[in-house]
Amino acid sequence: MNDRHGSHVRPDPVDPLDRLRFPVDEWRLVETSYSTEDLGTTETLFAVGNGYLGMRGCPEEGRDTHSHGTFVNGFHETFPIHHAEEAYGLARVGQTLVNAPDTALIKVYVDDEPILLSVADLERYERSLDFADGVLRRELLWCTPSGKRVQMNTTRSVSFAERHLAVMTMELTVLDADAPVVISTQILNRQDGQDEYHVRSAAMGEGKDPRRGSQFDRRVLEPQYHYAEKGRLMLGYRCVESRMTIAVGAHHVVDTANHVTERYFADEDSAKIVYRIDAKAGNTIRVVKYAAYHTSRGVPVRELTDRVRRTLDRATEHGLINVLKDHRAALDRFWADADVVVEGQPELQQAIRWNLYQIAQASMRAEGQGIAAKGVTALGYGGHYFWDTEIYVLPFLTYTNPRLARNALRFRHLMLPAARRRAAEVAQRGALFPWRTINGEEASAYYAAGTAQYHIDADVSYAVSRYVNATGDVTFLLNQGADILIETARMWADLGFWRSNGDRLFHIDSVTGPDEYTTVVNDNLFTNVMARFNLRKAAETVRAMRQFWPREFERLAARLKLTMDEVSTWEDCAEGMAIPFDANQGIHPQDLHFLEREVWDLEHTPSQNFPLLLHYHPLVIYRFQVIKQADVVLAMFLQGDQFTAEEKRANFEYYDPITTGDSTLSAVVQSIIAAEVGHRELALRYFYAGAFVDLADRHKNTADGVHVASAGGVWSALVFGFGGMRDYDGELSFDPRLPESWERLIFRFRVGGAKVRAELSADSYRFELEEGESAGFTVRGRKVELSPDSPATVRLEDQGPQLPSFPLHPRMVGGQREDGTRISAAVPRSIDMDQFDV
Ligand code: BGC
Repeated sequence: MNDRHGSHVRPDPVDPLDRLRFPVDEWRLVETSYSTEDLGTTETLFAVGNGYLGMRGCPEEGRDTHSHGTFVNGFHETFPIHHAEEAYGLARVGQTLVNAPDTALIKVYVDDEPILLSVADLERYERSLDFADGVLRRELLWCTPSGKRVQMNTTRSVSFAERHLAVMTMELTVLDADAPVVISTQILNRQDGQDEYHVRSAAMGEGKDPRRGSQFDRRVLEPQYHYAEKGRLMLGYRCVESRMTIAVGAHHVVDTANHVTERYFADEDSAKIVYRIDAKAGNTIRVVKYAAYHTSRGVPVRELTDRVRRTLDRATEHGLINVLKDHRAALDRFWADADVVVEGQPELQQAIRWNLYQIAQASMRAEGQGIAAKGVTALGYGGHYFWDTEIYVLPFLTYTNPRLARNALRFRHLMLPAARRRAAEVAQRGALFPWRTINGEEASAYYAAGTAQYHIDADVSYAVSRYVNATGDVTFLLNQGADILIETARMWADLGFWRSNGDRLFHIDSVTGPDEYTTVVNDNLFTNVMARFNLRKAAETVRAMRQFWPREFERLAARLKLTMDEVSTWEDCAEGMAIPFDANQGIHPQDLHFLEREVWDLEHTPSQNFPLLLHYHPLVIYRFQVIKQADVVLAMFLQGDQFTAEEKRANFEYYDPITTGDSTLSAVVQSIIAAEVGHRELALRYFYAGAFVDLADRHKNTADGVHVASAGGVWSALVFGFGGMRDYDGELSFDPRLPESWERLIFRFRVGGAKVRAELSADSYRFELEEGESAGFTVRGRKVELSPDSPATVRLEDQGPQLPSFPLHPRMVGGQREDGTRISAAVPRSIDMDQFDV
């Protein structure tokens, strides 16, 4: 298979990891040798978090690191966005996550020598992240420069049970000699401060990659409080501009037979306890460090310090064992629904679990907040929330952990007032959700690839509707969901225009679809198809409320000043929606003029020029047929019942060759549709691309955080892609596509209060009710009704169609436009700028 632009796009479906360093373990990510080559990547891969609080996998001793990072979901600073050229309605206030004070730091000196892994003489090294008990562990056997052997074991976890709590342990034993040991445990403000080596905070970062977060050249955290006494440390701050507040504390319990003395220090940017220990050979020193984080939009720091104290008191009384037991129990519950088993593929199994675990780490305790594009693992994308949540993460949560999906949707609902203001700012009725945000305000400074993605409104509505269908949560629909559906439908009805050329069609102009390499276009197919869904759903919901929940309907109508005339208008707009189709090619143009453009010749583009966005001016990219990420292909997944099988195949084969996959949101979707239409090998290749996005650092930016959308998409690719599940309007169906090399695929899903276990093998699909009274769906058109104690097995003749491979160069090259001219392919010149140096 031709893989012309870097192996990350359609890699061979083989395990890409160095298994000497990262041995296969189905329930852990394990690293057996230390390297400074990929510190940024491994800090992300070994990060721990619970959706509220996250800590990168940096070493306890502080060095060496790529970037220290501790993040509290939504804890952000604002700053004015300076546009070189102003225009009305551009986003004005930037938002970015703050690097919260670091509590992971526990420095160690033996014979006054610090441990520094990059130069340390290590007899043994292992770092592991355990997906089953949620603990990050390190085990080191260090030979000090003076020849003493020191065993050092550390653990770190951010509790899934106690939202504000992290707990760390260090066990240190000098094995064969006595030695003076110093343990300095700290809280450090790395956002503003210098570290103890006077190294400016690494959180400040640098570079021109737009996917990174914004940085500050001023102080962000105003010191409000510091404290160090009786095993306890605390720091408190207020953000200069956003006025958000934070208090961070740590409580220590030391256990050793050795003699220990302790000293305390605290100033504005750090607090520490230094333990001096006369360590006797073989006597273990054990430090347990409980850390607590509380943040607020306005509560004074004093109040937050009280909350920190309470969290710490409770945790210490509860004790380490119980804290970890509760943490694990929460995780057991997660896995009982979320686990997906691919039998006979241990390497893949490990990758799958790592990805699903990332969703737990990004969402479990995110209540009251969104789910950021990088979770709580790094500053990438400034900690912003995008459509990633609704389209890539919520399918997984809706079917496995509906409470978490509800939290995320409730959070969107809280953003409605800001979305209404934003719609008004851009001269529309209804509500327009921001393309990227933390606090509800639009933070996308580059409107062409940002604000213009109006489809976010339909994405949110889509997620609301799917959640309600899958769970039957009418309360949510009546109280929150309906408002979202209605305000977004209003926006669409107002945004489009009716035009007539014989047939009366509703057009949507000047928007950007998911593909950010083609911007501000008319009738983007994805947008129109999704907007149509949004309009229909809103109308359907209002009519149903009027009939079945008249009281709620009255309230809704009064609340939103809604008339039934307006509802009819939405229905008209939906029915008249323009859906571009090119009869010559038998495909749906991505937008009205897409097919008229010249084609970007990806085949001859040097691999070092990917991703294109880092090597070509946006205008160069925009004028070609070249795609960053699935767009029409995504529409065919989300609105699959709106396309015929022939259209799906033709569209897929047209768009796949011009899709760069420069966004990690692409591969998982390409995989799902490749599987559906019958490009089975390609489906598997794309699946590998998605499953190893971060583990193999395929996009070379895992250091900037976990690609959460792709991680959620891994579940979608497994269940919707290979499992063949579809949910059109609450009607569940299955048409499976098990890869030949897989023995079995096992997953679970929740629907209508029931929990079903599904087990797919080459010749059968078996379903069993694990909770609830009944569940019904179809398998390749055959009805299946499940009741307790009566599993159903459907025999399978095959795993769907198997299509011949198609050329991975654009077949439209040389083809004719309507005006008779021919389409050509080219690689835009990339100019060596050095030649202009004078
Ligand atoms: C993608 C967007 C996505 C964003 C955050 C961009 O590269 O093009 O679709 O929302 O990343 O993940």
